[in-house]
Amino acid sequence: MPRCACTHASRRVVSATAGPLYVSGRIAGPVTLRVNGRVVVVDRLTYANNPNTPDGAPCDDRLGLIATGDILVVSGLTSRARVVYASKDRVTDTAITYEELADPKWKGKVCSRSGQHTYNIALVASMIAHHGAEKAEAWLKGLKENLARKPAGGDRDQVKAIFAGECDLAIGNTYYMGLMTTNEKEPEQKEWAAAVKVLFPNAADRGTHVNLSGAALMKSAPDKESGLALIAFLSSAEAQGEYAALNHEYPVKEGVAPSELVQSWGELKADPIALEDIAKLRRQASELVDKVGFDNGPGT
Ligand SMILES: [Fe+2]
Repeated sequence: MPRCACTHASRRVVSATAGPLYVSGRIAGPVTLRVNGRVVVVDRLTYANNPNTPDGAPCDDRLGLIATGDILVVSGLTSRARVVYASKDRVTDTAITYEELADPKWKGKVCSRSGQHTYNIALVASMIAHHGAEKAEAWLKGLKENLARKPAGGDRDQVKAIFAGECDLAIGNTYYMGLMTTNEKEPEQKEWAAAVKVLFPNAADRGTHVNLSGAALMKSAPDKESGLALIAFLSSAEAQGEYAALNHEYPVKEGVAPSELVQSWGELKADPIALEDIAKLRRQASELVDKVGFDNGPGT
């Protein structure tokens, strides 16, 4: 049984990288995919706690690990860019790099969610892949010292903090900006998003770090045909267009355009690094986040 002590059973869209499959959050029972309001049960999945995740980490931040041998199909569905959110009023820069976020000129100006969150672990892993462990550590220390506050909340909370003047820069996924900008249910989020511009880091060199959402079908699936049909549908131009229009993610299918809002932020040049290379470095990235005490906040 999993060590995770949380009692809720989250049912989520599976986030896949190539190689071993990591599932975001605790999965209990059938995995549910939500597509345009429709809910489709894919399969029962087995999972284990990811040994990379410390025991004290919030349940939702833990990663299940499913042996590749059990997986019949893994399909990437959308990609999201991990961009820099910047204050429209206080940041005049029109370009930035991840490396520059550690520049002392931004001391006290940067907000972040937990370094142990899966999105940030992947980004740190990409920094290790590109620069080596030593330089990545120096970068992460510098970034930590530039934080305005102890890491907390999700990506949207960082946008809110910029709106509130607590910080000028943050790292977050593109689709949250889309979801906030178009949020009719919580219109205050529109205001937060309106205070922020999107900068695509490293656009002038290797490109911006992207993460991938996906679907997987297990070998043990009782109804493989339906599972495959679902994955085929989710990969179709129709469903890919819905991911773009409704969730402001980047479709993986060629020929399907991102939403107009996403396009208005500019062209995404994605870091071409293989996701396997990032997946391999996740443990090291997680250890590095602990080593520099990133989640303790600046001055610790
Ligand atoms: Fe997310």
